[in-house]
Amino acid sequence: MAKLKMPEAEESGFIPTLNQMGFMTSSLDQFSKEFVDYAGKFPLEKSMEIGAAYGVATLEALKKGAQIIANDLEEQHLHILRERVPENLRENLTLLPGSFPEEIDTKVGSLKALLICRVLHFFNEERLNLSLKKIHSWINSGGKVFVVAETPYLKNFSPFIPIFEKRKKEGMELPGFVEDVMEVDPIRGRSLPKQMMVFDKDVLSSLFKNVGFVVEKCEEFARPEFPKDLQLDGRESVGLIARKP
Ligand SMILES: C[S@@+](CC[C@H](N)C(=O)[O-])C[C@H]1O[C@@H](n2cnc3c(N)ncnc32)[C@H](O)[C@@H]1O
Repeated sequence: MAKLKMPEAEESGFIPTLNQMGFMTSSLDQFSKEFVDYAGKFPLEKSMEIGAAYGVATLEALKKGAQIIANDLEEQHLHILRERVPENLRENLTLLPGSFPEEIDTKVGSLKALLICRVLHFFNEERLNLSLKKIHSWINSGGKVFVVAETPYLKNFSPFIPIFEKRKKEGMELPGFVEDVMEVDPIRGRSLPKQMMVFDKDVLSSLFKNVGFVVEKCEEFARPEFPKDLQLDGRESVGLIARKP
């Protein structure tokens, strides 16, 4: 079989996925960097990345000495990822293709760290709840979860901001559910799934607290590397680090 190649990066550094699930970034945000450093400190324990794409974070974590189980919905992403890993580190990489959360499993309490970066905003309420339960059960006591997701504070989501803020004020647990992305952004919506879920720091931290995590850090952050038509006010993404007691 001919070897698959990672697509060329766009000018912004975004690398398109093979399954129209957005892009992989070519550099690491601060939360993914913390995952890499943390997982690397525990070379005898397994960590996992969900939605790893071509491995921007997994690759760095392996270089730091981590053992990584890399998951993605698109199996071809994982084959490309494996080819990118230096041969001497491949024994520390396990590929786990499949749709999280319903298609994949691992042993309860078997992970030291788990990264899910720019994936949760593709989920509806049902999948989100199952994801939280599985993440909590897989991580061992003392282990950590690292999360990055999109907020409504992206320029192309501007029409949705008042709806999000109104729902939040009314006490809705998940104010960020977008029923039809095309109604919010008819241009970029074409390369995104129909439904999405965006979060801010209050919404994201409550979800992880409610399932039993201790939130160590949760904040919105700027994305100067995102294309200009997405940048709004420095709150484009939200990240979380939480510990299982
Ligand atoms: C926007 S990309 C993010 C890639 C990388 N984590 C990053 O931060 O640049 C989303 C990735 O998650 C994968 N993905 C989406 N839904 C998934 C699911 N339910 N289970 C596993 N992977 C999923 C996609 O195939 C894609 O590779």
